[in-house]
Amino acid sequence: LVTSTFGALAQAYPTKPVTWIVPFAAGGPTDALARSIAERVAREIGQPIVIDNAPGAGGTVGAAKAARATPDGYTMLVGHMGYMGAAPALYKKLAYDPVADFAPVFRFPDTPLVLMVRKEHPAKDVNALVDYAKANPDKVFISNAGVGSSSHLIAALWAASAGIKISQVPYKGAGPALIDVIGGQVDGIFDQTNTALPQIKEAKVRALAVTSKVRLPQLKDVPTLNETVLPNFEASTWYGIYAPKGTPPAVLDKVQQAYLKVMTDRAFTDKMAEQAIQMLPTDQYTGAALGKHTAAEVARWKSVAAKSNISLD
Ligand code: MLT
Repeated sequence: LVTSTFGALAQAYPTKPVTWIVPFAAGGPTDALARSIAERVAREIGQPIVIDNAPGAGGTVGAAKAARATPDGYTMLVGHMGYMGAAPALYKKLAYDPVADFAPVFRFPDTPLVLMVRKEHPAKDVNALVDYAKANPDKVFISNAGVGSSSHLIAALWAASAGIKISQVPYKGAGPALIDVIGGQVDGIFDQTNTALPQIKEAKVRALAVTSKVRLPQLKDVPTLNETVLPNFEASTWYGIYAPKGTPPAVLDKVQQAYLKVMTDRAFTDKMAEQAIQMLPTDQYTGAALGKHTAAEVARWKSVAAKSNISLD
């Protein structure tokens, strides 16, 4: 009786709105990308997807909240490289295991990042910023979305690889962190293209470099880090939707089918291209592919954190 009830519930799913936990403040790239995907997936599954912004500790507070949620398909986590990849290497007492406590549902497209400085900063290009940081150790203030956020991790990797000492300033999300670069309270940020491009276009900040392998069509005159200060450097933020472990597979299948329709919809892929968000080969979007990627990233970041001096919690 139980299995048939479960089966019937999964078949009827969803019968009410679904919550996606975004573990950063509203207005940042995770929030923006999640909302643009949620509205399309919601149309496919026939129920609203409500975003619950639950910020703190680089996204690990919201991830822990999702791990504890009822596994009925009505709460899922918008996960990313930080709190679902690097966090086990950075946080000694992590309240969840990115692999053991979750069922991976599907992967989002990847977002490259842009290194931007406040308009009045004397550094006109990334080489000048590295030279300035060498001459003024700990005096280049870079804002981020908390220890383990991609803005924190990529800034830490950049500083370690460039041999400079910067001061990182944590916020509850890259939204508020970018506002303080625009306002001049801090010197710079690595922010993802979907939220960075509009500010660059309106000349509210100066773009110095991008973290993608090749230059972005939207920023043809902005060099990549690997053609300037860091040969072979490439980084982007990867994302995925995770359900609490134990969520019925029939529920996950229904959401995955809906998602794949969105990923192959031309209007959506055009919108992603406008934001320099990188679509992936379709077979990379599945829950199984996300699960493999998550486990590989947890292992990779353990070795990265051991090798470079990324500041821990
Ligand atoms: C980050 O990793 O920096 C986050 O994605 C920032 C955010 O989305 O607020």
